[in-house]
Amino acid sequence: MSGPKRKVYIRTFGCQMNVADSELMAQLLADDYDLTTSPGEADLYLVNTCAIRRKSEAKVLSLLGELRSLKRRRPELIIGVGGCVAQQEGERLLAQVPHLDLVFGTRGIYRLPRLVSRAARERTVDVDLEEGCAPPPRRRWAPGKAQAFVTIMQGCDNFCSFCVVPYVRGREVSRPPEHIIAEVADFLAQGGAEVTLLGQNVNSYGRGLAEPVIFPELLRRLAALPGLRRLRFATSHPKDLSPELIGLFGALPVLCEHLHLPVQAGADRVLAAMNRGYSRQDYLEKVEQLRAACPDLSLSTDLIVGFPGETEADFQDTLDLVRRAGFHQAFSFKYSPRPQTRAAALPDQVPEEIKTDRLVRLNELLGEMQLAAHHRLVGREAEVLVEGRSKRSPWELAGRLRTNQVVNFSGPPHLVGRFATVRLTAAHPHSLRGELASGPPPA
Ligand code: SAH
Ligand code: SF4
Ligand code: F3S
Repeated sequence: MSGPKRKVYIRTFGCQMNVADSELMAQLLADDYDLTTSPGEADLYLVNTCAIRRKSEAKVLSLLGELRSLKRRRPELIIGVGGCVAQQEGERLLAQVPHLDLVFGTRGIYRLPRLVSRAARERTVDVDLEEGCAPPPRRRWAPGKAQAFVTIMQGCDNFCSFCVVPYVRGREVSRPPEHIIAEVADFLAQGGAEVTLLGQNVNSYGRGLAEPVIFPELLRRLAALPGLRRLRFATSHPKDLSPELIGLFGALPVLCEHLHLPVQAGADRVLAAMNRGYSRQDYLEKVEQLRAACPDLSLSTDLIVGFPGETEADFQDTLDLVRRAGFHQAFSFKYSPRPQTRAAALPDQVPEEIKTDRLVRLNELLGEMQLAAHHRLVGREAEVLVEGRSKRSPWELAGRLRTNQVVNFSGPPHLVGRFATVRLTAAHPHSLRGELASGPPPA
């Protein structure tokens, strides 16, 4: 192609899987489009969307509304919406948003170059979940990148009664281990150091592969790759957390001492109505086994308040479970009814003000626990992978501990993307403060 390349701007909402998908979108379009960070100069504007709660969806619709004026100023601009809202709404989005050119679903990203060319000529929809979904043979990594997300499986078969993911991401499909290993090896060869494996339920990885490989085996194979310093994964479903996987914590040196294990609720009848497949006792026993295997493990979770039928006593069970499990970090949400899901049709929907009240009380407890967990680290020295600088000052750096907590400290900008040793000096609710003890010299 001659002349300057066209420009694509990508706005990403939602989870890490969407972040990884957006990177892939940029890569797939790279022959024709360069990525830009200023929406005003884009020839192609893509929005990667999230449908997990009504609020997530509302954000997308309001952004699409704002894009009308951009399109009016530049009629040749192509606007495309992908991801989970696109998958859920399909044609309806085109009807609802007249200045929209393209709607592509969660597995349409692999067909994106073709779809964009077509959208330049006619309004286009592709929300096929069945058609081939092969990621490109080779992923391109930004130079100097130390941390990467690697998708190891698509979709989800669990059908938790509150959750839209199985409807918008389709059935569970695992990527062959050779592809994952090659992708990670490639990343490490280019200077990568930390990898987070992604899937809606990584514990069921490998089902349906020609040669089934269980998740712990995948972890062991990856752990053997030279150059890997940190390995993480998300998300683990408690019902499928096997003794073998628990045993890897503390035994595989590259596996970070952190596990995200969403519990959702603390009352057995709510867990059953959520179709989660475990009891509070099962969950607490797994936590005990994890702590026995790896005493330094930091544990994070997701919680939902106000699931249909949740009583004050049920909510008290959630608070009690939170105290017993001793979470280091948690994400809490008000239940939000989602299209197609079973829970949306249940009677006894909890009134909004009760949901809000429970969320406030839960967050108070979680905030105290998170701060206490940070306080316990003060005075120690720890390894930080520096992820970036603060917007305020290039000498203000931010990174993560192996246990996933965020640390802010002053240090030279060349440390970005590298490991440093930091003395932890103060605890805040959402982060720790530290002082640089030692780090590598400029490259
Ligand atoms: N696959 C992951 C979670 C994906 S969604 C897992 O199984 O844990 C991330 C979180 O969003 C969930 O853990 C849940 O806490 C929350 N969530 C999902 N659907 C929701 C809904 N309808 N209302 C409120 N929160 C929801
Ligand atoms: Fe949703 Fe449950 Fe699947 Fe997680 S495991 S994505 S919460 S259905
Ligand atoms: Fe949202 Fe889709 Fe992820 S609904 S949380 S972007 S899988």
